[in-house]
Amino acid sequence: MAVPVGIHDIALATGHYAMDLSELAERHGVDVGKYYLGLGQREQTVPATDEDIVTMAAAAAAQIVATHGAQDIRTILLATESGIDHSKSAAIPVQELLNLPAATRAVELKQACYGGASALQMAAGLVERDPAHRVLVIASDIARYDIDSGGEATQGAAAVAMLVSADPAVAVLEPESGLYTADVRDFWRPNHRSTPRVDGKLSVSVYLEAVERAWKDYEARGGRALREFAGFCYHQPFTKMAYKAHARLLEINGTAPDQGLLDRDLGHTTVYNGVIGNSYTASLFVGLLSLLDHAEDLSERSVALLSYGSGCVAEFFALRMVPGYRQRLRTEANRAAIERRERISYDRYRAIRDFALPEDGSSLALEHDGAGPFRLRGVSDDSRIYEARRLTRV
Ligand code: COA
Repeated sequence: MAVPVGIHDIALATGHYAMDLSELAERHGVDVGKYYLGLGQREQTVPATDEDIVTMAAAAAAQIVATHGAQDIRTILLATESGIDHSKSAAIPVQELLNLPAATRAVELKQACYGGASALQMAAGLVERDPAHRVLVIASDIARYDIDSGGEATQGAAAVAMLVSADPAVAVLEPESGLYTADVRDFWRPNHRSTPRVDGKLSVSVYLEAVERAWKDYEARGGRALREFAGFCYHQPFTKMAYKAHARLLEINGTAPDQGLLDRDLGHTTVYNGVIGNSYTASLFVGLLSLLDHAEDLSERSVALLSYGSGCVAEFFALRMVPGYRQRLRTEANRAAIERRERISYDRYRAIRDFALPEDGSSLALEHDGAGPFRLRGVSDDSRIYEARRLTRV
């Protein structure tokens, strides 16, 4: 019988600052209810000027390496759509910051917000081939839209790191999955742009179509019946999107999506995303952590996951929770990472947004800004230079 493969450990990191969406509502001249209730977003993480996808990824993964050591990690799969280089993988500076062995495969994966789920599936394939092999999967992103655009209310940033192994202690990845790909222009970021081109309304309707199509493929491949799931995690560009998606899933399964049922199925999975904001590839797994940190014991129950990445690719798959998984959770650390963020005004957010690294090859040393374990020290000869932060505070 094949060895079970899945998530052995999972950890979260987010950025240093947070902005309440009332600040943005005032600037945009809209009722804050549009963001708090209409989008289901209260705050968004704003990374410090010396944070990026590498520092967040390393901060999440360092917690896992501190617990399990680096031995047997032979692959790092880093999923992101906020890449810092068109060619070199952001997994390489993460490998260096974490002092992982040189005998490591370090690769970056991309397909909008779907990249993290694809990395998890590919990691499982590597572990199935060699059960002694452990894979560090990291989803790390900074969601950033044009100033004063509708998308600005759906920004945020986070990284989730997962150790994928045989005989996992947290969750087994179930073999069935439903897939859907279609060439759609709802969201994309051409190489010359730092913010995406986005047709927000189209992206919502394509997401819903993708939920339906991925579910139907999952069903056709012998997946579980809807009533067997103890929880539902969706990609959450804003938490209300999970409600729209779940309502569609219930409807196509002949169940009326009343508010009580939606709240019961989704309440726990939207707590963290509602204050972190969109974290693109990480968002689905932030939703998973939120569910696990808030729900009752789900041992031997299955949790459904729906990943959607604009462009678009979607996948419906499931995790089966391992008895005793709750002892492995980092609930206090996760809450602390969210709560310790420094709340900032719109003006401070805007100053951070307007700051840009040099694009002409010149060097820049950055002031200390954030407080995480790793920082971007600066740029030299068009290369980002990272360092572990010396924690000198008493
Ligand atoms: N109180 C309560 N709710 C309010 C409100 C108020 N005062 N004012 C508006 N709303 C509601 C609207 O009814 C709407 O809810 P509904 O979708 O359930 O009908 C919601 O707030 C958003 O309003 P809308 O006019 O659609 O917002 P928008 O034009 O700014 O666009 C997005 C919203 C999500 C399309 C936009 O933020 C965006 O483009 N985001 C980036 C792309 C994205 O996240 N796509 C998701 C799929 S990947």
